[in-house]
Amino acid sequence: MSDLFLTEIGELTTNDGEVVTNAVVVVDDGGVSFAGPSADAPEHRGRPLIDCEKRAVIPGFVDAHTHLVFAGDRSDEFRRRLAGESYSEIGAAGGGILATVAATRDATAEDLFELAAGRVRRMISGGTTSLEIKSGYGLDLETELRMLEVARRIGEELPVDVKTTFLGAHSVPPEHKKDPDGYVDLVIEEMLPAVSGLADYCDVFVEEGVFTVEQARRIFEAGAAIGMPARVHAEQLSHLGGAGLAAELGAASADHLDHVTPEDATALSEAGVSAVLVPGAAYTLGSPQPSGAMLWDAGCTVAVATDCNPGTSYMETMSLVISLAVVQMGLTVEQAIWAATRGGALSLGFDDKGTIRQGSSADLLVLDAPTAAHIPYRPASDLVATTIKAGSIVSEIR
Ligand code: NIG
Ligand code: FE
Repeated sequence: MSDLFLTEIGELTTNDGEVVTNAVVVVDDGGVSFAGPSADAPEHRGRPLIDCEKRAVIPGFVDAHTHLVFAGDRSDEFRRRLAGESYSEIGAAGGGILATVAATRDATAEDLFELAAGRVRRMISGGTTSLEIKSGYGLDLETELRMLEVARRIGEELPVDVKTTFLGAHSVPPEHKKDPDGYVDLVIEEMLPAVSGLADYCDVFVEEGVFTVEQARRIFEAGAAIGMPARVHAEQLSHLGGAGLAAELGAASADHLDHVTPEDATALSEAGVSAVLVPGAAYTLGSPQPSGAMLWDAGCTVAVATDCNPGTSYMETMSLVISLAVVQMGLTVEQAIWAATRGGALSLGFDDKGTIRQGSSADLLVLDAPTAAHIPYRPASDLVATTIKAGSIVSEIR
């Protein structure tokens, strides 16, 4: 566990009240022991010193929605969409999620780990210090288990904290095409009990032509009964009722929400369900973004996340996501930075993350910029200079 003394911070975003200028952060044993004005800082006392040279410091990003364990390549689908085919048409023709399922079923655990670890290393250098990882490209018990084991291994071997989500109901697999309810039974009766030690949450893609609200309710109730709260793929391509279901069940989060209504926003807010927005998906598909401002103003805990996946949002770093949340979803700079840090942490139950105050985990980013606003303002500039995880420097760009 590490000690550090970060001095000469030009702008410190604590997510705990006001932004502090001319600040110091002190780290003892991997945790923050002081964060505030340099005038109030304790003695340096031999801790390793980082001179921030008036640059900005913010909490590490918490990416609350990823599908980053997968094999195969779908860049051809990106070209086909640019030429006019829709995401749903490509899926119906056997591409989309099922193309990745075929490649992932064929991949070894070692292959999947190496592919995922490469993505997570880029995430870390982009400032991500905690993340969620979903299964959902196996759709059979053996491959779903393999994906979740790889996701757990990422958290053990790389300097990130990981929460895992079982997404066995991501699509109906080809062998069950004629009997979707039979597949839902299999998810409930065989898969959920088998993955319960490996998955922290349970997710269902509630969408026209994928899983209905009724099917999802059955799966979520079975998951909750064995200690796996719901995260819901809701209202992504159409308005089907996934957000209402998330509110009804008191889910941990409702995610995507491209077609969310003001009534849904009120219901999510009242039920305490986090709204996890993934602007990379609508950006990549060229479809309209939901209003983050509407969800924020309704009182929702808003998070923004990459949705890193090979189909709709092959994004690994949070900077562009934050910029899209500001430019296309109507969040303010402060709201978007909060959503990418504290919002993500709250949605995943990481209570000591996403803030910089006494007692927080010392997950910190030193930016190569004077203010946090440069992140959305200059989204293609790799402005995370140093990523610090639990008080250790895990990535540094010179
Ligand atoms: O979050 N919506 C469903 N799942 C993913 C896309 C998966 C894929 O195309 O491989 C998403 O957008
Ligand atoms: Fe997703």
